[in-house]
Formats: sequence, C-alpha cells, structure tokens
Amino acid sequence: MSQPKKRKLEPGVDGEGGEGAQEENGGEQETVLPRSRKTKKERDQQYYECYSDVSVHEEMIADRVRTDAYRLAILRNWSALRGKTVLDVGAGTGILSIFCAQAGARRVYAVEASAIWQQAREVVRLNGLEDRVQVLHGPVETVELPEQVDVIVSEWMGYGLLHESMLSSVLQARTKWLKEGGLLLPASADLFVAPISDQMLELRLGFWSQVKQNYGVDMSCLEGFATRCLMGRSEIVVESLSGEDILARPQRFAQLDLARAGLEQELEAGVGGRFRFSCYGSAPMHGFAIWFQVTFPGGDSEKPLVLSTSPFHPVTHWKQALLYLNEPVHVEQDTDISGEITLLPSQVDHRHLRIQLRYKVGDQEEKTKDFAMEEYLTVSA
Ligand SMILES: C[S@@+](CC[C@H](N)C(=O)[O-])C[C@H]1O[C@@H](n2cnc3c(N)ncnc32)[C@H](O)[C@@H]1O
Repeated sequence: MSQPKKRKLEPGVDGEGGEGAQEENGGEQETVLPRSRKTKKERDQQYYECYSDVSVHEEMIADRVRTDAYRLAILRNWSALRGKTVLDVGAGTGILSIFCAQAGARRVYAVEASAIWQQAREVVRLNGLEDRVQVLHGPVETVELPEQVDVIVSEWMGYGLLHESMLSSVLQARTKWLKEGGLLLPASADLFVAPISDQMLELRLGFWSQVKQNYGVDMSCLEGFATRCLMGRSEIVVESLSGEDILARPQRFAQLDLARAGLEQELEAGVGGRFRFSCYGSAPMHGFAIWFQVTFPGGDSEKPLVLSTSPFHPVTHWKQALLYLNEPVHVEQDTDISGEITLLPSQVDHRHLRIQLRYKVGDQEEKTKDFAMEEYLTVSA
C-alpha cells in the first residue's frame, strides 16, 4: 500500500502534479494536463541523476533473484560470448559487464549515462579487467562504439516492466549496434495480470473498526475515509503480494519479443490486452496486480532461463504493480471479471508509466480507471 520512499525523484515535476487524477467511472477519462516546461533532455538528465546514488545500485545488486538470474543466464551463454563483443546498455556499477567478461567475452562496452559510470570504471579496474571491459559515459543513443557487437545485455526493466521507458533505449541500441542475428539478453518479456484481494490493505481498512476494543473510542466511521485515501488515488502502487492474495488464475496479457521489428512503435502506442477471469472464491476484491517475467535463451544445452516477478515466486525489488479500484467489490466463487489493460508512456513525462484499465466485475456496469506512476524510482527500506 504505502509506497516505499527512499530513492525518490520528484513527482509530476514543475508542480504540475501527477497525471490522470480521474474518476473511476464513465467514459473517456484521459485528463491532459499542461506539459512541463522541462525539455526531454532535462528530464532525461533528471532521470539519470537518480542512478548516481549508491542506494539504488545496492538494492539491485542485493536482489539475489535478479542478479543471480543475470549471472546464470550470462554464464550459460558462454559459448555465444566467448571471444565475442558485448554492449551492456545501462551498465550501472558494471556488474553485468564483468559477468560477460568472466564468461569469456573478448570486449565489453559498458555504457552508462549517469555519474555511476565512475564507480563502474573502478570496479572494472579492481577486477583487473580494463583490457576487456571499456566503460563509456553517456546515453547509449549518442555514444559511439568502434564496432558492431555480437551480444547486447541490459537490465532495463522498471516497475510494471515499462516504467522508466528504458526498453526503447535498448531497442535503439539493438538497431544501431547489434550484428544481424546477434544475441539479446534477455530476449523477451511477458506481462501478467490477476484480480487481487490484498490482505494487508484489508487489515488497514478494518483497522478503524478495531480502535474501540483497544481504547474505548469508536472510530469505525473512518473506514470510508481510509478507503478513499488508500484506494481512491490513481497511483500505481508498488507492493509485494503473496499467492494467497490472488483471486483467479493469472493471465498473460502481452508478450514482447525484443527482436521484433516495430516494437518501439508498439511501446509508444501502448501495449496490453484483454483479460477474463473466473474467481476462486468469496472475497473482497481490491483491484488488479500486474507483474512480468523476462526470458533468456538457455545457451547450448539448457532450457531458457526465466526471471519472474510473480507473487508465486520469491520476491524481487520490483514486487508487483497494484491497481486499486476506488473501493472493494465483493466477489464469489466463479464471479466473472473481464476487461482490458494498456500500458503506455505518460504524456507528461515519457519515462513515467501510465496504465489504462477497463473492467467489469460480475453484473456490475463496466468501469474505467486511469493510473500513473508518480516517481521515477523508489527503493524499499
Ligand atoms: C536498472 S539499472 C541496471 C544497472 C546494472 N546494469 C545492474 O544490473 O546492476 C539501469 C542503468 O541504466 C542506466 N541507463 C538508463 N538509460 C540509459 C541510456 N539510455 N543510456 C545509458 N545508460 C542508461 C541508468 O543510469 C542505470 O544505471
């Protein structure tokens, strides 16, 4: 529920507020707010700045699910990497570049736009790999490499997969620098959605009815206020759920093959799909959770390797992206839930994720709600 806030970059920017404080019900809802005075270049700069701090890199590297998946995927592809050239898009502290050198790459170009590139250079030096890993400072869109590469590796995934819009940088690098038939690590991504009954949220909403038994003061009238505060906003909430919070069999609603021609335009227009669920049982439904997985080719003899952020798998720093309805809706066994979900870049800032949701629960009328991610990054405490 409450968004963790450590690695926070200002929301909305320029005081124009977040995007899409919309009503849940009825019609086309897009509220086009005045565009910020900041140029795209200034926004990009602001985005890179939040990667200059140590906390975000600490959180990513401490995420064993993430970092081990990349390490294993790189090592399993050793035969494609040995003696080859690699571009690491957004190298951060350089860890993936070093994994590639350890797997036998002849030359790794570690491209990093934020000031953390200096730390990457130190890490490369400390590991005695200066002759094989070259750290280059700048956005991958403008950096010049001396050659085309055999492999592109990148950890580009944001909350809800597409927050930060870093995938489009990877796709541009693919078009410009990857040799025909070159390897992409990871090679594809899938998005999933499921209706949820969020037990933590339910406890918080019920809290006000419990106050009387502790202090003798009836505060149950605040439950509606709590519901408006916790569910009424249109922000995308980053929190981890458990499998028990999932109300129906999850569905994949989008599949992104990173080698697909035209994917950049698809991302601009919005990726998504329809869904239809049949509920497992009786519960208050609070909304939907979305999550993703990315898949790495398995190398010579192995199966593809999947890095999953599902609530049925060990938690990652991405957790899940939660889309709360304005209030809980009671569902029963086999209640039909259907709708459509679309992820697209915000019009206010292309790096901010926006999600359009259209849904129908049982016999209720169809509703829509528009969500936005209000910060570039957050880091859990
Ligand atoms: C999610 S972090 C991954 C860092 C590192 N690869 C790791 O796995 O620990 C993404 C990094 O990409 C950098 N980045 C994002 N867009 C970029 C771009 N267009 N060009 C170069 N670096 C970029 C960010 O500054 C950040 O350090």
